[in-house]
Amino acid sequence: MATYRHWNVRRDESRIAWITLDVADSPMNKLSADVMSELDTLLDDLDRYPPAGAVFQSGKDAGFIAGADIEEFKRLDSPEKARSLVERGWNLFNRVAGLSYPTCALIRGHCLGGGLELSLACRYRVAVDEPGTRLALPEVMLGIVPGWGGMLRLPQAVGAVAALDMMLTGKAVNARKAHSLGLVDESVPARVMQNAARSLVLSGKPPRQLPFVQRMLNGPLKAVVARQARSQVARRAPQKYYPAPWAIIDMWANYGGNALAVSGKRPTSLDAIAASPTTRNLVRVFFLQERLKGFGKDADFEPRHVHVIGAGTMGGDIASWCASRGMTVTLQDQAIERIAPAIRRAAEVFDRKFRGDKLKTRMALERIVPDTDGRGARQADVVIEAIFENLEAKQKLLSGLERIVKPDAVLATNTSSLKLEDIGSALKNPLRLVGIHFFNPVARMPLVEVVSASDTDRSMVRRAAAFVKAIDKLPLPVASAPGFLVNAVLGPYMLEAIRCADEGIAVEVIDRALVDFGMPMGPIELVDLVGLDVAMAAGKALTGAGAAPRRLTDLVAAGHLGKKTGRGFYAWIGGKAQKTKAGTVPDGLTERIVRPLLDATRRCVNQGVVADADLADAGVIFGTGFAPFTGGPMNYLAARGGVAAVDSGDELVVLPKAA
Ligand code: NAI
Repeated sequence: MATYRHWNVRRDESRIAWITLDVADSPMNKLSADVMSELDTLLDDLDRYPPAGAVFQSGKDAGFIAGADIEEFKRLDSPEKARSLVERGWNLFNRVAGLSYPTCALIRGHCLGGGLELSLACRYRVAVDEPGTRLALPEVMLGIVPGWGGMLRLPQAVGAVAALDMMLTGKAVNARKAHSLGLVDESVPARVMQNAARSLVLSGKPPRQLPFVQRMLNGPLKAVVARQARSQVARRAPQKYYPAPWAIIDMWANYGGNALAVSGKRPTSLDAIAASPTTRNLVRVFFLQERLKGFGKDADFEPRHVHVIGAGTMGGDIASWCASRGMTVTLQDQAIERIAPAIRRAAEVFDRKFRGDKLKTRMALERIVPDTDGRGARQADVVIEAIFENLEAKQKLLSGLERIVKPDAVLATNTSSLKLEDIGSALKNPLRLVGIHFFNPVARMPLVEVVSASDTDRSMVRRAAAFVKAIDKLPLPVASAPGFLVNAVLGPYMLEAIRCADEGIAVEVIDRALVDFGMPMGPIELVDLVGLDVAMAAGKALTGAGAAPRRLTDLVAAGHLGKKTGRGFYAWIGGKAQKTKAGTVPDGLTERIVRPLLDATRRCVNQGVVADADLADAGVIFGTGFAPFTGGPMNYLAARGGVAAVDSGDELVVLPKAA
């Protein structure tokens, strides 16, 4: 057999060709143009002496195939390039699907995007049942479509409803779920995987057929399913900002999953996707995320034990998150009664997370050790203080801790408004203190700010970032400045929204305007969630002595602090804000409220709160959910040549440059 750079083919005694992908010079398998064209050549070679069957497998420990090479998506700036990229995979995988001999994908670890499309082109699929095995078509998250056969073959394998759900959300399934959906023929333990693939590929079994009703839904009744899918997508991805999900539905429903068949004039064509800035921006967001994941990589630090002081809202949730990530956690507070509620909350979270698996829940709970004496601080690799926001109390606690913690342990505060320098001034070595600033709710917020002053020990900052990474959060290095990055940009934005409410604009209208803009939640609802007292304190800290909006002051005075008291700007029942139907959004409202956020982001960049504009965008997107299709506030400003503009309805409103 010929030799290849990325592929390896071995024929065994039963004439099965074992085709192993092991992409050269890369820790994971990606389907670059080079890798794909080599597969084409390899298939030519096999055609000369067709094997009895072929099994595709991975030579990497990291997983099966991570998908296309996303670097190549950066260059998708013309309809021709988009078409030729799609054509490459569509034709090649059609060729795989039409091979005269049976084929099987042996899937272990991640199997994403083009990797799953290659697997779907095989006659059979075997998945290894272990935690790392994840199958998904995440293209939509990058603003593109699964054009290499995914839109054709996934619905044939799992039915239209399940397939659209996977393609429109990008969510992954594990081996067992894939088996129950019919996405793989077998889900097996690793030790028998090759035998399973061998038997299946030689079995002569006809490919699995969908049941009758499912065949109807993926055939004559497509229009019904498509209508329902569109109405679901309309709620979270307006077509003018997010063309890809709409294109997926149209391509599946009307073009047999063939992206190339859609006329360039349609809003659901590849041409429209290539022309929309969304794809470029979402690819940008992907790489920003990769950049955040890179922080702390060079720290050579493997934290195992975290000591958390303060078992309140934040400390309790930080403890349970760390335990869910496999860390041992000692949780300290003044009395066991203060720790008990945090443990109860953790038990509920684990029960949901492990879907009632009592053993796993118990093991995770056992990793949280109540520690009223604070003994855990002596052994911990990371010590996080999350007591109430009071400078003297934090100084006293941390200076005591400094005497007993391991010399190389990370000593951190979760403060959101105090200066690191002020807290550190009570320490013998203030340079070792870092901020590890989590957001509320801890389990839902992907970002954690790693705060340092100008002379903070860099190795401690790296270790803190490594810890954040180890618990599967995204670390963002920020300077010790009021509000750091995220609160500094959210504060003025929420304040402006409350001012609008003061002027008599209905809160529902304000929230509607910003949700339409692409925010995950309106600013008024966010204030209710954060707590009006917290917002008022933050407002004072961030915007100085200016008078607080009247409605905010009145509500706080009346004890209406938001969701936590059942009433704020909204009444809250059963954890939900009670909203009336929003009226029309007045012209200019969206841009008026977004503007302070854009300005504050730019200020943070200018003041060096974050190292550069890209990191500001990453922080604001992952810390606030700022409309990802914009690529972040700085990108949004830059795209307009330094002038802020926001889309209100069909008109582009250009705002004057900020002073
Ligand atoms: P909290 O009031 O819910 O909890 C504080 C806990 O610390 C209480 O259980 C208290 O008994 C305990 N505590 C106080 N002094 C102690 C001491 N000397 N030793 C041991 N335990 C002590 O406070 P929360 O909201 O959890 O905030 C904690 C920290 O996190 C604050 O610095 C706050 O600024 C910060 N933060 C809060 C966020 C929020 O949304 N609540 C978000 C991000 C940061």
